[in-house]
Amino acid sequence: MSLEPLNQLLSDTQQPICAYYYDLDALAERTKRIVSQLPKQVRFYYAIKANSDLPVLSTLAPHIFGFEVASLGEVTNAREAAADAPIAFGGPSKTNPELEGALLAGVELYHIESAFQLARLSALAATHGRSVNVLLRVNPRFELPDATLQMAGKPTQFGIDQLQIDDILASRDQFEHVNIIGFHFHALSNNLNAASHLKLVETYLQTCGSWQETHRLDIKLINVGGGIGIDYSAADTHFDWGAYCSGLQTLLDNALPQGVEIAMECGRFVTADCGIYLTEVVDIKQNHDQHFAVLRGGTHQFRLPASWQHNHPFHVVKRDQWDYPYPRPHITQDAVTLCGELCTPKDVLARNVMIGELRVGDLVVFDKAGAYGWHISHHDFLSHPHPDRYYMRNGCLFS
Ligand SMILES: Cc1ncc(COP(=O)(O)O)c(C=O)c1O
Repeated sequence: MSLEPLNQLLSDTQQPICAYYYDLDALAERTKRIVSQLPKQVRFYYAIKANSDLPVLSTLAPHIFGFEVASLGEVTNAREAAADAPIAFGGPSKTNPELEGALLAGVELYHIESAFQLARLSALAATHGRSVNVLLRVNPRFELPDATLQMAGKPTQFGIDQLQIDDILASRDQFEHVNIIGFHFHALSNNLNAASHLKLVETYLQTCGSWQETHRLDIKLINVGGGIGIDYSAADTHFDWGAYCSGLQTLLDNALPQGVEIAMECGRFVTADCGIYLTEVVDIKQNHDQHFAVLRGGTHQFRLPASWQHNHPFHVVKRDQWDYPYPRPHITQDAVTLCGELCTPKDVLARNVMIGELRVGDLVVFDKAGAYGWHISHHDFLSHPHPDRYYMRNGCLFS
């Protein structure tokens, strides 16, 4: 991503640089490309937990089916960005005030995570004289492909154990104000393998098919979740979206009954590439024979590498100007650990990475920071100033 639009800002600022920059034009183009390749039976939701900035949501709204949200706050964000966009409401807790808020906001679809949640929603919908569509979120018992993170296929707080689904379906007449129109699966994050993802979707469809038969269900929608990956390693491989979409088309043509639709709810795959996190080197030192570069910023603003224990991809932007009377700390052709400004040894964004040259005052730019960057971070630890956040839309820069 070119930093040219930021040049003036970068040279004017007196403070060490610390900023996020999102290219919304690139985001719109990418999303159009992603959605255009999908089979027509697929509703493409964006999971806004990945990045819920209003400029991001309003950029995405014209190109996607709707928003997947996981709190009442996210319902509000989604409505503010696009009042008419369909919303699917997930999340393991969903308190009564949240469910009530969602009913009042006209949320169309609820992903139910427990039998108790189903009972509560049915009672609340009755109070509001409503009947609402729900998908039961399933925690599968079958084996899942490898991915960076698995939130199902093993004991977790997410979804309803596959073994309990039969009982819930058998007793569904008790819940008069909810219509169980299908099932929801979101089992893993950051799968880079299109073939294994396709196989997973096939297994979801087979599982739903057997419930449909046993319980004579009228399934309308199966949500196969998000979890499409972005490679943060040096290999920089790509999930083969084209192959996935054409495989999905064949699968749906062969295995999806007439009148049933598929939903996907991707976060990372949509927004990761549209954002970068820029930080300035404020100190370089050697400690116990290793080099450390301290940055203005850190994991309180960009928690992803610490959370996933990876070295985040970055590049260095050299800044030659040095107006100070004291020597400029630097390292050349050596390994360095890039650390933030927090008082914890866990504040590391990349460890022991080889570098050509790095000087105090240079910029370190972390790529692929548009998803789960700012939005999963604990911003106020140590009360440092927040980073600036810039957006580019239609060639205009705004913050
Ligand atoms: C229920 C649910 N759906 C969708 C997503 C988005 O996943 P991803 O960003 O991996 O596509 C998440 C992320 O945690 C999630 O919890």
